[in-house]
Amino acid sequence: MTTVITYGTFDLFHFGHLELLKRAAAYGDRLIVVLSTDEFNLQKNKISRQPYDLRKQNLECIKFVSLVIPENNWEQKENDIKTHHVNTLVMGDDWNGKFDYLMPLCKVIYLPRTPGISSSILKEIENNKS
Ligand code: CTP
Repeated sequence: MTTVITYGTFDLFHFGHLELLKRAAAYGDRLIVVLSTDEFNLQKNKISRQPYDLRKQNLECIKFVSLVIPENNWEQKENDIKTHHVNTLVMGDDWNGKFDYLMPLCKVIYLPRTPGISSSILKEIENNKS
C-alpha cells in the first residue's frame, strides 16, 4: 500500500483542484488531503469563502480521495508523513522547491498547475458581479 499526501485550502472547489488530485492519486494506492483550517488560513492572510466543514465535504465526495485531515500549521508535515506512512508528497508547482526539505522522508513531486483557474480568480469574478 503506497500513500500520497497533498496540502491546500481547496476553496470554491474547481477543475484545477480536481486535476491536481487526480494526478496526485495516480502516484499511489491512497491519497490523503490535508486541508487548511479556517484558523490556519487566517495566519496565511487567506479568507476562504467556504468554511472548513464544507470544503472537507466537497473533498470527501471525490472517489480518489481516501482521507481528509486538518492542516493547522506549517510544521506538521514531518509528523503527518511519519504517522500516515506517506511515500509521496505532491503539490502544484506554485510550491516548487518549498518542500524539498522533506525529501529524506518521502518523494516530493511538484505538478504543473492547470492554467486559467484558481480560487482567487473565482472570487474576483464573484466580486465583479456584485
Ligand atoms: N492547483 C492546481 N491548478 C490550479 C489551482 C490550484 O494544480 N489552477 C493546485 C495547487 O497548486 C495546490 C492545490 O491545487 O497544490 C490546492 O491549491 P489552493 O491554493 O487551495 O487553490 P488555488 O486555486 O491555487 O487558490 P488561491 O487562488 O487562493 O491561491
